[in-house]
Amino acid sequence: MKNISEFILILMAVITLTRGAEEIYAQEGGNITLRPPASADLQSHYVYWYVNGKECALCNPLGRREVTEGFTNRLFLSDGCLLTITNFSKEYYGIASCEVKLLRVTQATVVYEVLKVTVNMNSLSPLLHGETLSLVCDPQTPQSGKKPHIHWLSPQGEKMKNQGQLTVRAEAQYNGTWTCVVSSDGKESTAKISVMVLDLSPAPSSPQYTSESSPLNIPCLIPEHISWEQMKAKGIQGGHWTFIPKPGTTPTSADPQRLFYLSLEDPISWKEVEAKKLTLADPKTKNLSLTRNKGSNKDGGDYVCTLEFKNSANLSRTVHVEVLQITASPGTELISGQRLNLTCGVGHPLPSNLHLKWSPPKQSPLSLTPDRHPPHLTIPEVGRGDGGKWRCELRQNSTSLCSADITLKIEPRVSVWMLVIIISVAVIVILLLILVFILCRRRQRKTRHLRHRLCQCKNPKPKGFYRT
Ligand SMILES: *[C@@H]1O[C@H](CO)[C@@H](O)[C@H](O)[C@H]1NC(C)=O
Ligand SMILES: *[C@@H]1O[C@H](CO)[C@@H](O)[C@H](O)[C@H]1NC(C)=O
Ligand SMILES: *[C@@H]1O[C@H](CO)[C@@H](O)[C@H](O)[C@H]1NC(C)=O
Repeated sequence: MKNISEFILILMAVITLTRGAEEIYAQEGGNITLRPPASADLQSHYVYWYVNGKECALCNPLGRREVTEGFTNRLFLSDGCLLTITNFSKEYYGIASCEVKLLRVTQATVVYEVLKVTVNMNSLSPLLHGETLSLVCDPQTPQSGKKPHIHWLSPQGEKMKNQGQLTVRAEAQYNGTWTCVVSSDGKESTAKISVMVLDLSPAPSSPQYTSESSPLNIPCLIPEHISWEQMKAKGIQGGHWTFIPKPGTTPTSADPQRLFYLSLEDPISWKEVEAKKLTLADPKTKNLSLTRNKGSNKDGGDYVCTLEFKNSANLSRTVHVEVLQITASPGTELISGQRLNLTCGVGHPLPSNLHLKWSPPKQSPLSLTPDRHPPHLTIPEVGRGDGGKWRCELRQNSTSLCSADITLKIEPRVSVWMLVIIISVAVIVILLLILVFILCRRRQRKTRHLRHRLCQCKNPKPKGFYRT
């Protein structure tokens, strides 16, 4: 009796197939979910599920859901009597069907032709950035002979233009799970494959700014999901940091300078070549960033972080560094009343999303409108209040990227009138001294004369001189 009913079922399924079963594609190890016929009323109907003619699950009007013994670890029924087959394996390919019955009379049937879809990668995993990533999605041809439509979704869910075979240049964003979508008659099935692309984290798209009073940070990171073991397996040969100075900073040349190289001998470590007082974290942390607590005016240029692999394949990132500087013309030591020009910048006009903020010393009379802080400030006559520390901040919206300082020394001015007064006083003093000197001399001469006369009196004249 059971055999007959099974036979009838399969026969029915085959008959339905010729009328067009719903094609659904399953990947080995994947999951698929099947729906009962749309007309099923779960409040009054019995719903039976069959896989290749074997009854495997049922839902009754009282809300009971039951998976037949032998299927319990693979099949699950969810709300609406949807059947999910997990961890798909060979014996489930073929025909799956669902019957809706009322008082043992079949009300509706749906038949699924469960077909195999395989996805493969025609390249050696992991891939290096720039290598060719080739994926193939191959669905089994259904009984109807109608080929399904195929497309690929990138790990970010981006729909790729390619059909069954996908060939792209490996990029960091292609690391992750790729999905092949097989659609027939508007029904979509998916198959997944995971791809690993070795790459460095993206370099910052805008320059890194530093100054003599701000830190220097040149980032280069190996993404979380990549390990040194995978790099070694891919044939890493070494690595280095190279600096290409900004043209014009050093009078000698703009030749690239090797700053550090990576020694792969255990333990993996950095070796310094050119001392620029830059520091690096332990490469084991996969943080290859260069840092220094203060920038210098010679730091401007391009920094290239490179990992070398066999067959001269490279992974590299370039970080552009700009140095913010304040220059004072004619200088930082001024006499009050002098004209002063202050310029803050990186040596060329700033991008429009960045702006400057000046902070003059507290006692400076200079007032700047909050929305206008130009790169050039002209002070027609500096005063003593302008002496002290001037700060110029480089900002993006309201966040400070870095700041530069300059200290001005202002000496008081010696005016013409002050000179006249000083000279006059000096002249008067000299004249007075001369006068005192002359007076003294005259007094001395007078006393001598007097003494002389007194002496004459002491010695009485000979009597003969007296007139008789
Ligand atoms: C990398 O290391 C530097 C210091 O060496 C640190 O400033 C930076 O925050 C680190 N970056 C990450 C992402 O851990
Ligand atoms: C200051 O800048 C003005 C133009 O902004 C220029 O004419 C003047 O020569 C500059 N002065 C000094 C001392 O550089
Ligand atoms: C800066 O502000 C603009 C809008 O004013 C916004 O679009 C942009 O994302 C902001 N940038 C940052 C880094 O906050």
